[in-house]
Amino acid sequence: MFKFHVLYESQTTQARIGMLINHRGVVETPVFMPVGTQATIKAVPPENIASLGYRVVLANTYHLYLRPGAEVIKDLGGIHRFMRWPRLILTDSGGFQVYSLSQFRTIKEDGIIFKSHLDGSEHFITPVEALEIQTKLGSDIAMVLDTCIPYPLSYEETKALTELTHRWALESFKYRQRHKNTKQAVFGIIQGGMFVDLRQKSTSFITSLEFDGYAIGGLSVGEPLELRNEMIEVSTSFMPKDKPRYLMGVGTPIDIAEAVARGVDMFDCVLPTRNARRGSLFTSQGPLSIKSSRFKTDSEPIDPNCGCYTCRNFSKGYLRHLFHTKELLVYQLLTLHNLFYYAKLIEKIKQNIKQETLLNLIQELKELYSKTT
Ligand code: GUN
Ligand code: ZN
Repeated sequence: MFKFHVLYESQTTQARIGMLINHRGVVETPVFMPVGTQATIKAVPPENIASLGYRVVLANTYHLYLRPGAEVIKDLGGIHRFMRWPRLILTDSGGFQVYSLSQFRTIKEDGIIFKSHLDGSEHFITPVEALEIQTKLGSDIAMVLDTCIPYPLSYEETKALTELTHRWALESFKYRQRHKNTKQAVFGIIQGGMFVDLRQKSTSFITSLEFDGYAIGGLSVGEPLELRNEMIEVSTSFMPKDKPRYLMGVGTPIDIAEAVARGVDMFDCVLPTRNARRGSLFTSQGPLSIKSSRFKTDSEPIDPNCGCYTCRNFSKGYLRHLFHTKELLVYQLLTLHNLFYYAKLIEKIKQNIKQETLLNLIQELKELYSKTT
C-alpha cells in the first residue's frame, strides 16, 4: 500500500501540503529526507533522527550494493532492521552515484558498466537489476535507474540521454507490472537537462507511466539558480497533482522554499549533514562557521533561538575546541543542530503555506543567506 493525498493547495503559489501513507506510517509533505548513504545518517543514531521529527530517510543503492551487498542486508532482515530505522526509507537507484563516484563508466543501451570506487571491480547494472537490488534491500520507495546528464551538455546529447532514460523507465515500469510488490513504491525520474522542450517531453513521458510518484532529476549540477527554477516550474506544471513530486539532491534553505512554491513535495540533500561535519552551520541569523577564531572564548550557543540538544547544552567556544581537536563528538553535535534547523525550516514552510505567506519567507531567507559571515 502506498498513497498520497493533497490536503491543501496554496492560492498564491503552486505549493501544496500533503500526506504520504504506507504500511509504516504517515509522512506529511513537504518533507526533507536526511541522507543516509551507507544506511546511517553519519554520526547520529536513528532514535535522534526520529526525535527531530524525521519520518523518512534516503539510502544509496550504489553504495550498499557494493558494500556490504544487497544479499547481506537481505539476510540481516532488510534495510529497516539493518539500520534500525522502522520508518520510511527511500533508496536512490545508483544512476547518479555511478556518475559522480565510479572511476569509470560507460552508458550502454541496456544499462551502465562501471568500476567500483572501492576496489576497481567492474559491474554492469540494468534498470531491472537496479529494481531487483532495491527489492532485496527492502526500501519503501525505490527509484528507477536513470542517466545523469552533466551541465552544460549539447541539445543533441541531452536528448539522446533523456530518451535512453525514458526507455529504461518503460522497462522498469513493465518489470514492476510483471513483479508486483505491494510493499515497495516505485518513482520515475524526469530528466531533460536544461532545455525547456526536453524537460516538457520528459515530464510527459515519465508521467504517462503510472508510477507511485515522480522525481525531477538532473538539477543542482552547477546550473544557475534561475535556470534551475525554470526547469522545476516546467516539470511541475506538467506533473499530475495527485502524485508526490520529489526534487532530487536539493538543496539550500532558499532552494527548498523556492521549489515548494513551484509545487515540489519531497527533498533530499547532503547539505545539513555534510556542512555540519565541515563546521558550517545554519542559524536563524544566517550561516556560521564554528572554526572562526572569534568564537574561541564565546560562551553562547550556536543559535540562541535554537532549541536543539547542542544549543541547549554547549557553547560555541566548546564546539570550536572540539572541532579543532577533531574530537568525534563534534560531528554528532553539529549534525544534530543542522538537522534540527532543517526540520524547523520545513515546519516553517508548512505554516507559511497555510497562511499564504510563503513568498515572504522566501524573501526573508534570501536576505538572511545573502549576508556573509
Ligand atoms: N540525485 C540527485 N540528482 C539525481 C538524478 O538526476 N538522478 C538520480 N537517480 N539521483 C539523483
Ligand atoms: Zn541548535
